[in-house]
Amino acid sequence: YPKAFIYDLDGVITDTAEFHFLAWQKLAEEINISVDRQFNEQLKGINRMDSLDRILERGFSGRIFSNTEKVALATRKNEYYLKLIESIDPSHILPGIETLLQKNKERHIKIALGSASNNASAILDKLELTSYFDYIVDASKVKKGKPDPETFTTAASALGIAPDDCVGIEDAAAGIESINKAGMFSVGIGNAQHLAAADYLVEDTAKLLFEDLIACYSKR
Ligand code: BG6
Ligand code: MG
Repeated sequence: YPKAFIYDLDGVITDTAEFHFLAWQKLAEEINISVDRQFNEQLKGINRMDSLDRILERGFSGRIFSNTEKVALATRKNEYYLKLIESIDPSHILPGIETLLQKNKERHIKIALGSASNNASAILDKLELTSYFDYIVDASKVKKGKPDPETFTTAASALGIAPDDCVGIEDAAAGIESINKAGMFSVGIGNAQHLAAADYLVEDTAKLLFEDLIACYSKR
Protein backbone atom coordinates (compact mmCIF):
# COMPACT_ATOMS: atom_id res chain seq x y z
CA TYR A 1 0.00 0.00 0.00
CA PRO A 2 0.99 3.62 -0.42
CA LYS A 3 1.76 5.38 2.89
CA ALA A 4 0.03 8.67 2.12
CA PHE A 5 -2.74 10.11 -0.02
CA ILE A 6 -2.45 13.82 -0.87
CA TYR A 7 -5.71 15.31 -2.07
CA ASP A 8 -6.29 18.44 -4.10
CA LEU A 9 -9.37 20.28 -2.82
CA ASP A 10 -11.14 22.28 -5.53
CA GLY A 11 -12.63 19.89 -8.08
CA VAL A 12 -11.58 16.74 -6.19
CA ILE A 13 -13.11 16.86 -2.71
CA THR A 14 -15.86 19.31 -3.62
CA ASP A 15 -16.94 21.10 -6.78
CA THR A 16 -15.54 24.52 -5.88
CA ALA A 17 -13.60 24.43 -9.18
CA GLU A 18 -16.93 25.48 -10.71
CA PHE A 19 -17.24 28.40 -8.26
CA HIS A 20 -13.70 29.58 -9.04
CA PHE A 21 -14.64 29.50 -12.72
CA LEU A 22 -17.87 31.47 -12.19
CA ALA A 23 -16.11 34.08 -10.04
CA TRP A 24 -13.26 34.58 -12.55
CA GLN A 25 -15.75 34.72 -15.39
CA LYS A 26 -17.74 37.48 -13.65
CA LEU A 27 -14.64 39.53 -12.93
CA ALA A 28 -13.29 39.03 -16.46
CA GLU A 29 -16.58 40.08 -18.05
CA GLU A 30 -16.47 43.33 -16.09
CA ILE A 31 -13.14 44.16 -17.72
CA ASN A 32 -14.22 42.85 -21.15
CA ILE A 33 -12.24 39.63 -21.20
CA SER A 34 -13.96 36.38 -22.11
CA VAL A 35 -13.23 33.36 -19.92
CA ASP A 36 -14.84 30.20 -21.31
CA ARG A 37 -14.59 26.64 -20.05
CA GLN A 38 -11.87 25.77 -22.54
CA PHE A 39 -9.62 28.62 -21.31
CA ASN A 40 -10.57 27.81 -17.73
CA GLU A 41 -8.70 24.49 -18.00
CA GLN A 42 -5.51 26.59 -17.95
CA LEU A 43 -6.61 28.26 -14.71
CA LYS A 44 -7.41 25.09 -12.78
CA GLY A 45 -4.96 24.51 -9.94
CA ILE A 46 -3.23 27.85 -10.52
CA ASN A 47 -3.01 30.21 -7.53
CA ARG A 48 -4.96 33.46 -7.34
CA MET A 49 -2.36 35.94 -8.62
CA ASP A 50 -1.04 33.63 -11.35
CA SER A 51 -4.63 33.04 -12.52
CA LEU A 52 -5.23 36.79 -12.71
CA ASP A 53 -2.00 37.23 -14.69
CA ARG A 54 -3.16 34.61 -17.20
CA ILE A 55 -6.53 36.32 -17.60
CA LEU A 56 -5.01 39.80 -18.02
CA GLU A 57 -2.50 38.44 -20.52
CA ARG A 58 -5.39 36.95 -22.51
CA GLY A 59 -7.28 40.25 -22.61
CA PHE A 60 -4.54 42.88 -22.60
CA SER A 61 -1.47 41.09 -23.85
CA GLY A 62 1.67 43.01 -22.95
CA ARG A 63 -0.05 45.75 -20.93
CA ILE A 64 1.49 46.32 -17.51
CA PHE A 65 -0.80 46.48 -14.48
CA SER A 66 0.37 47.96 -11.20
CA ASN A 67 0.38 45.73 -8.16
CA THR A 68 -2.36 47.88 -6.61
CA GLU A 69 -4.61 47.33 -9.65
CA LYS A 70 -3.95 43.61 -9.58
CA VAL A 71 -4.60 43.24 -5.86
CA ALA A 72 -7.90 45.11 -6.28
CA LEU A 73 -9.00 42.79 -9.10
CA ALA A 74 -7.94 39.63 -7.24
CA THR A 75 -9.73 40.82 -4.09
CA ARG A 76 -12.90 41.46 -6.06
CA LYS A 77 -12.77 37.96 -7.54
CA ASN A 78 -12.33 36.51 -4.07
CA GLU A 79 -15.38 38.44 -2.83
CA TYR A 80 -17.47 36.86 -5.60
CA TYR A 81 -16.00 33.47 -4.73
CA LEU A 82 -16.70 33.87 -0.98
CA LYS A 83 -20.37 34.60 -1.78
CA LEU A 84 -20.56 31.39 -3.83
CA ILE A 85 -19.06 29.20 -1.09
CA GLU A 86 -21.12 30.74 1.73
CA SER A 87 -23.67 27.92 1.75
CA ILE A 88 -21.31 24.95 1.35
CA ASP A 89 -22.07 22.07 3.72
CA PRO A 90 -21.25 18.31 3.94
CA SER A 91 -23.78 17.57 1.19
CA HIS A 92 -21.28 19.20 -1.19
CA ILE A 93 -18.64 16.48 -0.71
CA LEU A 94 -18.22 14.81 -4.11
CA PRO A 95 -19.36 11.16 -4.45
CA GLY A 96 -16.89 8.52 -3.27
CA ILE A 97 -14.54 10.94 -1.50
CA GLU A 98 -15.53 10.25 2.09
CA THR A 99 -15.44 6.49 1.43
CA LEU A 100 -11.91 6.88 0.13
CA LEU A 101 -10.88 8.90 3.20
CA GLN A 102 -12.36 6.18 5.43
CA LYS A 103 -10.44 3.46 3.55
CA ASN A 104 -7.24 5.48 4.03
CA LYS A 105 -7.92 5.60 7.78
CA GLU A 106 -8.70 1.86 8.01
CA ARG A 107 -5.39 1.07 6.32
CA HIS A 108 -3.48 3.64 8.43
CA ILE A 109 -2.59 5.59 5.30
CA LYS A 110 -1.77 9.23 6.10
CA ILE A 111 -3.98 11.92 4.59
CA ALA A 112 -2.88 15.40 3.49
CA LEU A 113 -4.36 18.27 1.55
CA GLY A 114 -2.37 19.80 -1.30
CA SER A 115 -4.31 22.90 -2.29
CA ALA A 116 -3.35 26.17 -3.98
CA SER A 117 -6.20 28.00 -2.27
CA ASN A 118 -6.17 30.51 0.58
CA ASN A 119 -9.70 29.36 1.34
CA ALA A 120 -8.83 25.66 1.71
CA SER A 121 -9.08 25.29 5.50
CA ALA A 122 -12.36 27.20 5.67
CA ILE A 123 -13.89 24.92 3.02
CA LEU A 124 -12.67 21.71 4.71
CA ASP A 125 -14.30 22.98 7.92
CA LYS A 126 -17.60 23.68 6.15
CA LEU A 127 -17.51 20.16 4.69
CA GLU A 128 -16.74 18.82 8.20
CA LEU A 129 -13.76 16.86 6.86
CA THR A 130 -10.92 18.59 8.72
CA SER A 131 -10.48 15.80 11.28
CA TYR A 132 -9.48 13.31 8.56
CA PHE A 133 -6.39 15.34 7.65
CA ASP A 134 -2.95 14.79 9.16
CA TYR A 135 -1.53 17.82 7.37
CA ILE A 136 -2.85 20.70 5.30
CA VAL A 137 -0.89 22.50 2.60
CA ASP A 138 -2.63 25.62 1.34
CA ALA A 139 -1.48 28.78 -0.45
CA SER A 140 0.19 30.10 2.72
CA LYS A 141 2.59 27.12 2.93
CA VAL A 142 4.29 27.30 -0.47
CA LYS A 143 6.38 29.76 -2.45
CA LYS A 144 5.91 28.20 -5.87
CA GLY A 145 2.40 27.18 -6.87
CA LYS A 146 1.41 24.30 -9.14
CA PRO A 147 2.73 23.08 -11.61
CA ASP A 148 5.83 23.35 -9.37
CA PRO A 149 6.04 20.21 -7.18
CA GLU A 150 6.42 22.23 -3.93
CA THR A 151 2.77 21.76 -2.83
CA PHE A 152 3.07 17.97 -2.89
CA THR A 153 6.68 17.69 -1.67
CA THR A 154 5.83 19.98 1.29
CA ALA A 155 2.97 17.68 2.28
CA ALA A 156 5.12 14.53 1.99
CA SER A 157 8.00 15.93 4.04
CA ALA A 158 5.63 17.18 6.74
CA LEU A 159 4.24 13.64 6.98
CA GLY A 160 7.76 12.19 6.86
CA ILE A 161 6.92 9.95 3.89
CA ALA A 162 8.99 9.38 0.73
CA PRO A 163 7.42 10.64 -2.54
CA ASP A 164 7.47 7.12 -3.99
CA ASP A 165 5.06 6.02 -1.23
CA CYS A 166 2.59 8.85 -1.96
CA VAL A 167 -0.49 9.06 -4.14
CA GLY A 168 -1.59 12.53 -5.33
CA ILE A 169 -5.13 13.19 -6.59
CA GLU A 170 -5.90 16.11 -8.92
CA ASP A 171 -8.45 17.46 -11.41
CA ALA A 172 -6.08 19.99 -13.01
CA ALA A 173 -3.36 19.54 -15.63
CA ALA A 174 -1.07 21.80 -13.55
CA GLY A 175 -1.75 19.58 -10.54
CA ILE A 176 -0.90 16.33 -12.33
CA GLU A 177 2.33 17.93 -13.53
CA SER A 178 3.08 18.94 -9.94
CA ILE A 179 2.51 15.38 -8.62
CA ASN A 180 4.57 13.81 -11.40
CA LYS A 181 7.47 16.21 -10.83
CA ALA A 182 7.31 15.37 -7.11
CA GLY A 183 7.90 11.71 -8.05
CA MET A 184 4.53 10.49 -6.78
CA PHE A 185 1.80 8.30 -8.28
CA SER A 186 -0.68 10.66 -9.96
CA VAL A 187 -4.42 10.13 -10.07
CA GLY A 188 -6.45 12.32 -12.43
CA ILE A 189 -10.14 13.14 -12.14
CA GLY A 190 -11.42 14.22 -15.54
CA ASN A 191 -10.69 13.43 -19.16
CA ALA A 192 -7.62 12.35 -21.11
CA GLN A 193 -7.70 15.48 -23.24
CA HIS A 194 -6.45 17.52 -20.26
CA LEU A 195 -5.01 14.90 -17.93
CA ALA A 196 -3.14 12.53 -20.27
CA ALA A 197 -0.07 12.66 -17.99
CA ALA A 198 -1.88 11.03 -15.06
CA ASP A 199 -0.71 7.53 -14.01
CA TYR A 200 -4.31 6.58 -13.30
CA LEU A 201 -7.34 8.37 -14.69
CA VAL A 202 -11.03 8.25 -13.84
CA GLU A 203 -13.84 10.37 -15.28
CA ASP A 204 -15.26 11.51 -11.95
CA THR A 205 -14.92 10.86 -8.22
CA ALA A 206 -17.77 8.32 -8.21
CA LYS A 207 -15.47 6.07 -10.27
CA LEU A 208 -12.54 6.58 -7.91
CA LEU A 209 -12.46 3.23 -6.10
CA PHE A 210 -9.76 2.47 -3.53
CA GLU A 211 -9.23 -1.15 -4.65
CA ASP A 212 -8.90 -0.26 -8.37
CA LEU A 213 -6.51 2.56 -7.60
CA ILE A 214 -4.36 0.31 -5.41
CA ALA A 215 -4.29 -2.40 -8.11
CA CYS A 216 -2.89 0.14 -10.58
CA TYR A 217 -0.47 1.61 -8.01
CA SER A 218 0.93 -1.86 -7.24
CA LYS A 219 1.72 -2.45 -10.94
CA ARG A 220 3.56 0.88 -11.39
C1 BG6 B 1 -6.96 26.25 -6.60
C2 BG6 B 1 -7.99 26.36 -7.68
O1 BG6 B 1 -7.24 25.16 -5.79
O2 BG6 B 1 -6.94 27.43 -5.80
C3 BG6 B 1 -7.79 27.63 -8.49
O3 BG6 B 1 -7.92 25.23 -8.53
C4 BG6 B 1 -7.72 28.84 -7.57
O4 BG6 B 1 -8.84 27.76 -9.42
C5 BG6 B 1 -6.65 28.62 -6.51
O5 BG6 B 1 -7.44 30.02 -8.31
C6 BG6 B 1 -6.50 29.78 -5.54
O6 BG6 B 1 -7.65 29.90 -4.73
P1 BG6 B 1 -7.91 31.11 -3.75
O7 BG6 B 1 -9.06 30.60 -2.92
O8 BG6 B 1 -6.68 31.31 -2.95
O9 BG6 B 1 -8.23 32.29 -4.56
MG1 MG C 1 -8.37 21.29 -8.37
